[in-house]
Amino acid sequence: MDIDLLDGLDEQVALVTGATRGIGEQIALGLADLGATVYGGARETGDISHDSLIPIQLDVTADRDIATTIETIDDAHGHLDILVNNAGIGGPRAPLHRNEMADIDDTLDVNLRGPIHLTRSALPLLLRNDGGRVVNVSSGMGALGEGMSGHYPAYRISKAGLNGLTVYLHGEYAEEGLIANTACPGWVRTELGAPEAPKSPAEGAETPIWLARFTPGSPGGTFWRDLSPIDW
Ligand SMILES: NC(=O)c1ccc[n+]([C@@H]2O[C@H](COP(=O)([O-])OP(=O)(O)OC[C@H]3O[C@@H](n4cnc5c(N)ncnc54)[C@H](OP(=O)(O)O)[C@@H]3O)[C@@H](O)[C@H]2O)c1
Repeated sequence: MDIDLLDGLDEQVALVTGATRGIGEQIALGLADLGATVYGGARETGDISHDSLIPIQLDVTADRDIATTIETIDDAHGHLDILVNNAGIGGPRAPLHRNEMADIDDTLDVNLRGPIHLTRSALPLLLRNDGGRVVNVSSGMGALGEGMSGHYPAYRISKAGLNGLTVYLHGEYAEEGLIANTACPGWVRTELGAPEAPKSPAEGAETPIWLARFTPGSPGGTFWRDLSPIDW
C-alpha cells in the first residue's frame, strides 16, 4: 500500500511500553534512530541500557506510574506524537476451564486495561499536534477471523479487545487528527514468542515502526501485518 511516511522523527516525542527487551526494545531503538525523543517504559528502569532512550518507570498496571509518565512528558514537551502500546504477557496456555481467574485478570490487566488507561491518559497530549499516532501491538491470535483456536484464551481475548480499542479510537478521534492502528508483528524470537520463531525482534518491530511514521491524514483503524492490511 502506498502511504506517505515521515522521513525522520526530529522534534517528535514517542512513548513505547515494554521497552526493556524483545519487540518493544527494537521499536524504541528504531524510533530513536529516526530522530525521535523516545521514552522507554520499563517496570525496572535499570533494565533499559541504551543511551538513545529515556527510561521511564511504567508498569502499565500501575495507575500511579501512568499518571507520573504523562505528567513527565507533558512538563518536558507539552505533547506526545507517538504512543506504542507494546507491553504484553502471554497468560495461561491451558484451555479456559483450566485457567485460574487470577491469571486471566493479570493478562487482561497488562494487555488490555493497561493500554486503555495509558491511551486515555495520553490522548490530550496526542491530540495537541495534528497526526498523533497510536500503535497497538496486537496479534493474529486475537483476530476474530483467524479461528481463535489453540489455547491462550485470555491472551486471545485481550488482543481482540486491544483491536477494539484501535477501531474505537479511530471512530472517535480520527476527525481530530489521531491515527490509531494495530500491528501484528508476526511470530518473533522473544521470551513471549519462541526460539524457533521465524522473525528476529528487529523484524517484528518493522510494521510498528512503519505505522509510527504515518503522516497526518494517513489511514487509521486498520490491522496491519508485514506492512499490509489484514482482517480483524
Ligand atoms: N513474540 C511474538 O511472537 C509476538 C507475536 C504477536 C504479538 N506479540 C506482541 O508483541 C508485544 C511484545 O512482545 P515480545 O514478544 O517482545 O515479548 P517479551 O520479549 O516477553 O517482552 C515483553 C515486554 O513487556 C513488558 N511487560 C510485561 N508486563 C508489563 C507490565 N505490567 N508493565 C509494563 N511492561 C510490561 C516486559 O517488561 P519486563 O522486562 O519488565 O518484564 C517486556 O519489556 C506483546 O504485546 C505481544 O503480545 C508478540
